[in-house]
Amino acid sequence: MSKITAAITAIGGFVPETRLTNHDLEKLVDTNDEWITSRTGIKERRIQNEPGKATSDMAVEAVNELLKKRGIKAEEIDLLIIGTITGDLVFPSCANIVCDKIGAINAWGFDLAAACSGFLYALETGAKFIETGKHQKVVVCGFDKMSAIIDYTDRNTCIIFGDGGGAVLLEPNTEGFGIIDSILKSDGSGREFLHQKAGGSLKPPTHQTIDAREHYVYQEGKSVFKFATTNMADVSTEIMKRNNLKAEDINYLLAHQANKRIIDYTAEKMNLPSEKVLMNIEKYGNTTSGTLPLLFWDFETKFKKGDNLILATFGGGFTWGSIYIKWAYNS
Ligand code: UT7
Repeated sequence: MSKITAAITAIGGFVPETRLTNHDLEKLVDTNDEWITSRTGIKERRIQNEPGKATSDMAVEAVNELLKKRGIKAEEIDLLIIGTITGDLVFPSCANIVCDKIGAINAWGFDLAAACSGFLYALETGAKFIETGKHQKVVVCGFDKMSAIIDYTDRNTCIIFGDGGGAVLLEPNTEGFGIIDSILKSDGSGREFLHQKAGGSLKPPTHQTIDAREHYVYQEGKSVFKFATTNMADVSTEIMKRNNLKAEDINYLLAHQANKRIIDYTAEKMNLPSEKVLMNIEKYGNTTSGTLPLLFWDFETKFKKGDNLILATFGGGFTWGSIYIKWAYNS
């Protein structure tokens, strides 16, 4: 029997309507459009500010789009995984809620918390259920409503993050297309540089934690930047080397959209020209788990069957990794 690989066969995405531009942020904190653009590449981000709407509502839109494009019903989904750190509730999981809302009555599902690497980790996990033959249709989402945990008085973090994400369908392939190789890494000692201080079991929320604004993202940007550039570049060049891929063999790099300077550094180490480096950071900012599926969503029509794609992420944890995909279809 030929080897089963997990191939992406459909893509959906969603970003909220409301735009938060750099000029809007100038009214909230001491910053300016020139600083944000030159230091990060971001011009605006999307914010989900409709009352009563949460991460699951964004994921529902994306999964429904994907099902429609593939011409299948929600009942056919075997497993649904969501990479997220901003699920609707502490429990149950956002995946449970999404399955209920879309009518995926035959699916099981769970959330996977790996901050900005959430989608990459979830893609690797979902692929294993396809490769083993256990499941035929696995939906992998990456979504975050970062505006729920961002302090809009902190210029170190509020300029970077936005809301949104996307979903992909994984199905078995026996012709050698799909996920070919992966390298996943983590180093929990990096948590001191990027974390949310309160709201977990270490420090359950109290009036004091709220007053101290500890329920928001805390980031030491410079330190995270240093680790992100080195580690994302290292893991991307490592996956190229062990798959005998030269820069000319790679069609596109899809890198986590945290900072244009980090992406440029990674691309430089891989010797990739700018036309092979996909970017949409200018319009969405850093959507945490959402960045990679949003790249798939925005650039799907570029991909041709047989294209070699390299995914790369770095995020809180620290978590990071790279996945090599041989694209499975012409859209
Ligand atoms: O998503 C996964 C994990 N996250 C990341 O990968 C993010 C990694 N870090 C970064 O992208 C960057 O560190 C930031 C964009 C967060 C910050 O950029 P930076 O070039 O590292 O700036 P900095 O923190 O070193 O600050 C440089 C200067 C400082 O002023 P002085 O001390 O040189 O006078 C800051 O006070 O810029 C000042 N500054 C700002 N000025 C205007 C910091 N934030 C701002 C701001 N607007 N928003």
